[in-house]
Amino acid sequence: MTKTFTGKSPIIIAHRGASGYRPEHTLAAYELAIALGADYIEPDLVSTKDGVLIARHENEISETTDVAKHAEFAHRQTSKIIDGESKTGWFTEDFTLAELKTLRAKERIPQLRPQNIFYDGLFEIPTFQEIIDLVKNKSVEINRQIGIYPETKHPTYFKSIGLPLEKPLLASLTTNGYQGANARVFIQSFEVSNLQYLSTQTDLPLVQLLNNDGKPYDFVVTGNGSTYADLITTSGLEEIAKYAQAIGIHKNLLVSRDSTGKLLSPTSLIINAHASDLLVHAWTFRNEDHFLPLDFQGNPQGEYELFLKLGIDGVFSDYPDTAYAVNENLGFKFCSHSPLPPSDP
Ligand code: G3P
Ligand code: CA
Repeated sequence: MTKTFTGKSPIIIAHRGASGYRPEHTLAAYELAIALGADYIEPDLVSTKDGVLIARHENEISETTDVAKHAEFAHRQTSKIIDGESKTGWFTEDFTLAELKTLRAKERIPQLRPQNIFYDGLFEIPTFQEIIDLVKNKSVEINRQIGIYPETKHPTYFKSIGLPLEKPLLASLTTNGYQGANARVFIQSFEVSNLQYLSTQTDLPLVQLLNNDGKPYDFVVTGNGSTYADLITTSGLEEIAKYAQAIGIHKNLLVSRDSTGKLLSPTSLIINAHASDLLVHAWTFRNEDHFLPLDFQGNPQGEYELFLKLGIDGVFSDYPDTAYAVNENLGFKFCSHSPLPPSDP
């Protein structure tokens, strides 16, 4: 019944962990995601001053940590241009790992997820190595191979300040035994040139992320006129297929919404991507009405069903248990254990 590219069941990618239930990018969020049925956990990666990869969605960390409360770091507050946007706050590249380890994570969107405020101040910023260790230990514990889906964040920027992400990422994956096209790893980027570079250095699966507007930041820097809209044309997809094995798409590129939030007819993107031998993973599925289309208010399951029936190969989800339940209802076999309900740490 599945229309996925491989004919296998689609995968559940825990977006920043089970970030609907725990502050994002914490070991607690990743661990819960695995318990709830995720096949892969997704760390976004940035660098510390001393070149260690850590999990944060941005290198500016005031939205997701308590850094602003640390008087000893007050003087580190500064303004920078990151990917063309002015940002004011505290930046990971200005802190050593030891310094960052004194901070604690907090909920990014407390107004939408007030239940998670309870966890503010409890969890450290994890390193990529700590995440790999968690994945390996949990895989043994539950007898199920959990995958890891790291994203290079702001790769052009980090290269420009002498802290490139790609080499430490590959070194870490290699050291930990992740090698070859069948490894349970996907490496993702919103930029193009670093994926093209990575394709010359590794056989690990690569994912070109595609937003529903704008262009890759490396294209901005090099003056390349192409946009994400150009990359989803048939010729654009054929170019991507030369260096990547999958695309990670904003959901709207497959089923967009009108000005009232109502869903429109599906595009041919999934058909075209599969024709170019590219898997399609879509982001981001969330339970809150704030994020849901008009058609599925109060019914996040309906949104998953729509996309899964179109044949997507994976979902990035903040609520892996919801994804798991829908997939079971659709007859997909996801993992070998029953998901557990969320529980307190
Ligand atoms: O990496 C793809 C997915 O995570 C959506 O992007 O902004 O949440 O990293 P973002
Ligand atoms: Ca991401």
